[in-house]
Amino acid sequence: MITAVLFLSLAPTGAAADGDEEIGRKIAYRHCARCHVVGDFNPMGGIGSTPSFQLLRKRTDWRERFGTFYNRRPHPVHVRVEGVRQWTNLPPNAEPFTITQDNVDDILAFVETIDGGG
Ligand code: HEC
Repeated sequence: MITAVLFLSLAPTGAAADGDEEIGRKIAYRHCARCHVVGDFNPMGGIGSTPSFQLLRKRTDWRERFGTFYNRRPHPVHVRVEGVRQWTNLPPNAEPFTITQDNVDDILAFVETIDGGG
């Protein structure tokens, strides 16, 4: 009981407590940075029309967006999540990669650390 109370007070916003920030960072640098600007990693990188992680992090619903990004366009064609049924069988228009559902928590833990500038 005491543990539960402590846990809640340490994670008042329901932080992705079981995600591993370092794993999330590696995935983001390796895969997401091809299209997104990811924090300080590639400030001049990414693809023009793709929102930066900083910008997305500023949104109040960032957690929900990152938690479901693989179901949001354009990701379903090139991101595979183990155990999640694919949306489409269209050939990927970008280098495909596969992550696990735990990795989604890892990504959330990493994005949590990105400074959205306010
Ligand atoms: C092939 C390019 C590409 C890759 C790789 C990519 N994204 Fe994206 N992502 C986009 C584009 C383009 C958008 C904007 C879509 C839009 O505005 O309709 C986007 C939007 C998003 C959004 C906002 C979605 C929404 O509906 O608000 C999130 C969150 C996101 N990406 C997370 C990620 C993560 C995490 C990774 C890596 C694991 C990743 N993306 C890899 C191209 C990419």
